[in-house]
Amino acid sequence: DASDTEKGTYPHFMLKEIDEQPIVMRNIIREYQNEKGELKLDKDIRKAMEKADRIYIIAAGTSYHAGLVGKEFLEKLSNIPVEVHVASEFSYNMPLLSEKPLFIFISQSGETADSRAVLVKIKELGHPALTLTNVPGSTLSREANYTLPLHAGPEIAVASTKAYTAQIAVLAVLAVDTARVKGIKLDFDPLQELAIVANAMEVITNQKEELEQLARDYFATTRNAFYIGRSTDYHVAQEAALKLKEISYIQAEGFAGGELKHGTIALIEDGTPVIALTTQENVNYSIRGNVQEVVARGAHALIISSKGLEQDEDAFVLPPVHELLTPLVSVIPMQLLAYYAALHRDCDVDKPRNLAKSVTVE
Ligand code: G6P
Repeated sequence: DASDTEKGTYPHFMLKEIDEQPIVMRNIIREYQNEKGELKLDKDIRKAMEKADRIYIIAAGTSYHAGLVGKEFLEKLSNIPVEVHVASEFSYNMPLLSEKPLFIFISQSGETADSRAVLVKIKELGHPALTLTNVPGSTLSREANYTLPLHAGPEIAVASTKAYTAQIAVLAVLAVDTARVKGIKLDFDPLQELAIVANAMEVITNQKEELEQLARDYFATTRNAFYIGRSTDYHVAQEAALKLKEISYIQAEGFAGGELKHGTIALIEDGTPVIALTTQENVNYSIRGNVQEVVARGAHALIISSKGLEQDEDAFVLPPVHELLTPLVSVIPMQLLAYYAALHRDCDVDKPRNLAKSVTVE
């Protein structure tokens, strides 16, 4: 049950929270449907979404990474242009706003001061705000016009896991709901697809031994690591690198596969771990080209692919889910790799140095 605040038999909250992700997906499916099995959303939120000519997503850390994935849903499914901004940067370089902007704040805690500063500012300008948060009643939830709860249950480990996947799932629900309200025909039922995702997540969380071994092989002694992906996979690569940095203190970077050659490839040495993600058919060929480029310079490459796109050399194959929702499954091995890397390096998994669960100062 994801509402528990005890570790139970788990050695760390992070591992427990990783394992809870299938339950959280099922909670979201239940909470966002009516008795007839249709999507259920507050009618004022529907109106606000319908009215918006552009969405500005504001967030920090892992929530920002969820926003990058959410932009794809909102643009591809509900046909609204979306900008995603790091909260702490937004105020310095506020973009030209559209005529009818809607601000979406994504925040696990609902207390992040950088995000709140933006909320205060845009309210002064008279713009509407919707907060996606795991803590209804939190500051960002109270001060925004609307709230969408994540239903992830308390997240205690500093490194965010189940809140990230909950944010992405709720953004998918919101995008499809908006498409329906706008009369856009879609061949995509998010509730059905999330049920498939929940099962796929379970398949992966049952492969811990395999992932622990990979973490040992790739991260036991390394000082740095690179995650690469293209398109959607690039966003997950950024989140994967953040997870590894946060809890194992390995210097890590998530890169767009095609951008590596414009500088970063200079850092590849004999044995440098490069983790490549490939879950989208249209990038499968090119990301594998990037893997060859780094392997030719000595990189220790680990390829994680979706079923159907896999090749013999791939170390880990993800169960198939709808192509739009692959971040929900591809992030799970990334979380587990980071977890085991931290464990084997004797790091304090749940309370990494210098970090706080929610940052209430700007
Ligand atoms: C802190 C946490 C991160 C989190 C970020 C944003 O830095 O350590 O894990 O992603 O804040 O938090 P929020 O609660 O706004 O999602």
